[in-house]
Amino acid sequence: MKQVYLDTFGCQMNVADTDRMELLLFHSGYARTTDREEADLIVVNTCSIREKAEHKIYSLFGELRPLKERNPDLLFGLTGCMAQQEGERLVRRMPFIDFVMGPDNIETLPQALAEIGHRSGPLVWTGFDANKQYSIPDLGGPLPKHPGASAFVNIIKGCDKFCSFCVVPNTRGREKSREPGEILNEARQLVDRGAKEIILLGQNVNAYGKREALCPIPFHELLYRVAETPGLRRLRFTTSHPRDFTPELVRAYRDLDILMNHLHLPVQSGNDRILEAMRRGHSAEEYLDLIDSLREQVPEIALSTDIIVGFPGETDREFEDTLRLMERVRFDSGFLFQYSPRPGTPAADLPDDVPETVKKDRLQRTLAVQNRVMEEKGMAYLGREVEVLIEGRGSKREADWKGRNPAYWTVQFKAGGMELQPGDFTAVQVEAVSGHSLIGRAVAPALAS
Ligand code: SAH
Ligand code: SF4
Ligand code: F3S
Repeated sequence: MKQVYLDTFGCQMNVADTDRMELLLFHSGYARTTDREEADLIVVNTCSIREKAEHKIYSLFGELRPLKERNPDLLFGLTGCMAQQEGERLVRRMPFIDFVMGPDNIETLPQALAEIGHRSGPLVWTGFDANKQYSIPDLGGPLPKHPGASAFVNIIKGCDKFCSFCVVPNTRGREKSREPGEILNEARQLVDRGAKEIILLGQNVNAYGKREALCPIPFHELLYRVAETPGLRRLRFTTSHPRDFTPELVRAYRDLDILMNHLHLPVQSGNDRILEAMRRGHSAEEYLDLIDSLREQVPEIALSTDIIVGFPGETDREFEDTLRLMERVRFDSGFLFQYSPRPGTPAADLPDDVPETVKKDRLQRTLAVQNRVMEEKGMAYLGREVEVLIEGRGSKREADWKGRNPAYWTVQFKAGGMELQPGDFTAVQVEAVSGHSLIGRAVAPALAS
């Protein structure tokens, strides 16, 4: 078999897309390697959410280029959101790249590889087929690898929200939902092959089914159906948008034991003028009301969020509203970003007038709040036992294993003499906390897995 080296940047959608490319390539005679020097094909799946993400890709290709000088048969592919965003410009800037393919073209990867053999110049495929139903067909046949204990299932692609700062509607196109039967089949197959947890995936999962005549079921209904997958032990979803959050979804948290008590709900800012300029379609108060009603009905729920500081025109006072919102909600974790103007987005037409030093300072202040809250929340776990689904080998403080608790904290732990393996559930006693990780040791034998 030929060897492919795959590298992934960006969000979980890109991780899922890379897995799909691995499968498609496997069916075309490629095995995945972790050694670039051995590769016949190198594919970099890129992100363009912030300028920094793009810089990383240019410098990575700078590093990769000499490999091609040593092996002229080596092929380079650049896929993902930056491919969609930059298209032809990429091959003009990096003419040694053989193909550029947007996220909507992944299924045609085998055809692209076949075509490259017959042409001299690079291939750039970044079209969208607006009429095509969103489908990720089951390819059958052998698999390159077993699914992990926790597996992603795409349910919706694209985004129709057009937040003023965001490239995703440009790079991933219009919102399209996958047919429920296809999702249920994939979930069943993954669980049959060993997955214990399914994470339903999309930029905006709770918009599921809104646009398609073919998918008349709403998101909460899909949750109830996936939850019935025999053998499934945990169910999660990401990412959802406050605007599409329904009371039925709150009820699903109460009804479904396997729907884990964690919600990632990006807020972006705590100030109404900024939220409006961001085109988020809700106020800070509406977000807080939503959180209050959720906590009333699901008191144990853990929350995480995304926040942008230094949006154009954000004053100190407006920024402080974000800090206040963070103090009020007390998120279990937060992804905190400095605003980065993105070409082709409405906010890029506004002057990027918050100085870099001020953005940095605001980022530090949000980090300080988040770290303190997280430490306080982590301390509350000390001495307690948490249920962990083991996902793989530990990566911290000589931990043997790592996994997640229901609230989505990472748990790194020593096996304590117990025979354990990925996919097992075990009780871990928490002995220390570090950031968003709990550290401890297994205390109860693996629960039935
Ligand atoms: N679909 C999700 C998030 C998608 S992108 C949602 O609606 O919230 C992930 C996060 O990147 C966003 O939540 C936002 O916080 C951040 N982000 C997106 N564009 C950005 C930009 N131009 N500058 C800085 N952060 C950005
Ligand atoms: Fe981007 Fe907004 Fe869509 Fe999220 S909801 S992907 S932030 S446009
Ligand atoms: Fe990046 Fe595209 Fe995801 S821009 S964050 S890889 S949807």
